[in-house]
Amino acid sequence: MAAPLPRVEIAATGRHLPDNIVTNDDLALRLDTSDEWIRTRTGIVTRRIADDETGAAAMGVEAARAALAEAGLDASDVDVLIVSTATPDRWLPSTACDIQELLGADGAFAFDLHAACSGFLYALTMAEGFLVAGHGDVALVVAAEKMTGIVDWEDRATCVLFGDGAGAAVVRRSEHPGRGIVASYHRSDGSMADLLCRPSGGVREPMSADVLVRRTHLVQMEGREVFKNAVRSMSEAAGRVLEIAEMGADDIDLMIPHQANVRIVEATARYAGIDMDRVYVNLDRYGNMSSATIPVALDEAREQGLVGPGSTVLTAAFGAGLTWGAMIWRF
Ligand code: UT7
Repeated sequence: MAAPLPRVEIAATGRHLPDNIVTNDDLALRLDTSDEWIRTRTGIVTRRIADDETGAAAMGVEAARAALAEAGLDASDVDVLIVSTATPDRWLPSTACDIQELLGADGAFAFDLHAACSGFLYALTMAEGFLVAGHGDVALVVAAEKMTGIVDWEDRATCVLFGDGAGAAVVRRSEHPGRGIVASYHRSDGSMADLLCRPSGGVREPMSADVLVRRTHLVQMEGREVFKNAVRSMSEAAGRVLEIAEMGADDIDLMIPHQANVRIVEATARYAGIDMDRVYVNLDRYGNMSSATIPVALDEAREQGLVGPGSTVLTAAFGAGLTWGAMIWRF
């Protein structure tokens, strides 16, 4: 039996990165770290850091505008607006409603989705479901993350890894046979929730002077355990999604993995049987922007002509939760 034909496609993409570039050497001025350690352990060289006034909505709306402009659409054409973020500007309402207002997408229904670094892939599947179920013609998926606002700047093992940015995709029903989301695979495992979390600051242990002193409202991570699970889960997801699509590694023109650590990227690509010259890497420039990494990378790859009409792309993500997943897109 042949794999089903795609029903929705990524019609356009956009991205926004803050202007402020921070190097490893800049971090070494205020932390007990070095360019050599960060480069060799992670592959990260620089990251972008948004200023104090800029939050997820401000970055997300710029990425959204770029995607809509490429699609030749107005904000008023958007029916569904999904924002993936682990760093909402405020707890209530959703950052999606703030982006809706900034964008002027007054015909849309808007909400946030929180699946950490896997959020863009989860959100695409959700957009696909809404469009197939008839809830509109145009979905806008935005991933906007100000990770530097939630990391602990006194914890050198985590803060050096992250950066800020946003990516967006316009999703529509496929107008071209064979083009679009070919296959998807998503998983999560809450038994590993404590490996990467912000223990306090929610309703169970609200913000307090004590929480601020203990710094438990900030990201805490068991790096080595997350690393092992990242390789295992992204490799599993890449293999499963290839099976679902009835494809092999040779059918993939470009792999766009979540950009957390180049060693994780290399190990996942090796398991998937894809040479590194077919893997898009930009974590050296941006670090880990959580769910924004994949749409930013896709937008850059399209701009550079690495992805164009006829290209088949494999993407895979993992993150806090733990969550993970993979997709195959044909353009
Ligand atoms: O989207 C998901 C987000 N999370 C991730 O992707 C993280 C996955 N994990 C990783 O990428 C890696 O585990 C890290 C990059 C976080 C750490 O690399 P590692 O090779 O697993 O190092 P380690 O945690 O085993 O630490 C090795 C040493 C330790 O020193 P000792 O105990 O051997 O003396 C750390 O204290 O490196 C030290 N260290 C640092 N040294 C300089 C940890 N962070 C730093 C630092 N600069 N920034």
